Amino acid sequence: MITISGPNADQIQYWNEVGGPKWVSLHDVISAQLRPLGALAMDRAGIAAGERVLDVGCGIGDTTIELGRRVGPSGAVVGVDVSAPMLDRARAAAQAAGAANVAFEDADAQTAALPGPFDVLYSRFGVMFFADPAAAFANLRKALRRGARLAFVCWRSLQENPWLLVPTQTAGRHVPLPQADPHAPGPFALADAARVGDVLSRAGFVRVHCEPIDQELSVAGGRSLDETVDFLLKMGPASAALREANAAPELVERVRADLREAIAPHAGPEGVRMGSAVWVVTAAAE
Ligand SMILES: C[S@@+](CC[C@H](N)C(=O)[O-])C[C@H]1O[C@@H](n2cnc3c(N)ncnc32)[C@H](O)[C@@H]1O
Repeated sequence: MITISGPNADQIQYWNEVGGPKWVSLHDVISAQLRPLGALAMDRAGIAAGERVLDVGCGIGDTTIELGRRVGPSGAVVGVDVSAPMLDRARAAAQAAGAANVAFEDADAQTAALPGPFDVLYSRFGVMFFADPAAAFANLRKALRRGARLAFVCWRSLQENPWLLVPTQTAGRHVPLPQADPHAPGPFALADAARVGDVLSRAGFVRVHCEPIDQELSVAGGRSLDETVDFLLKMGPASAALREANAAPELVERVRADLREAIAPHAGPEGVRMGSAVWVVTAAAE
């Protein structure tokens, strides 16, 4: 495990002690939920056989393994992450998949000297947690060859993401919602396309393009209504608000009942499907 220190100490602690263990225990639900969005960014990256790819904030490694499949045996993929429990899971999954061209680094992508040079920088929701995003992308730029492509997917604002907004508003009727700085490290840190453009151009990237994608997402990967409510009470901004408010179990049960009612209209034979909004960001390293 990397030490809990440096500019991203809070996030390193969070992803090792809170987010990582949760992510590992819910990995099958999360993977099913995020797979289509991760695939969009991977398709935009135009990965070719033989390329070297860096997967930033690779987490439990499903994208790293898929990238490994796309680059084939003559290519190589390195996943970098700060979360020991998530990397343990990623290494086990890569071994089980026989992904011999995939490796993982326990490192802070903002500050570590990373191996390289890579042809592609890819990330599925793993680049919104840096204390200083411009410094982080400048550091990542150093691991890329000139002309390398960048492709990542990140959330747009909470207001544009009903699958997150509805649970947050429901929790907000019972507990105070934390007033987060919109640029603070967290899921919405790159929600502002102008900021993404500024961060990436300061870090040495050109031809920055933020493509808005609005599509329905299978909130809990096709699980039932009750399993989806349970999932939303464990992950995301509503669960964070309940955790910060130290909500008593009886209060959580009241939120559960309200949330079930609020999302029930979105339940169907394929589980609960609600709107989501992301940027698929592409750029090139100068
Ligand atoms: C929302 S999760 C996404 C995980 C994975 N990309 C996926 O889609 O399954 C964010 C990931 O970013 C990682 N992360 C946060 N800050 C980081 C940093 N400074 N350097 C590297 N990884 C970081 C977390 O540990 C976590 O695995």
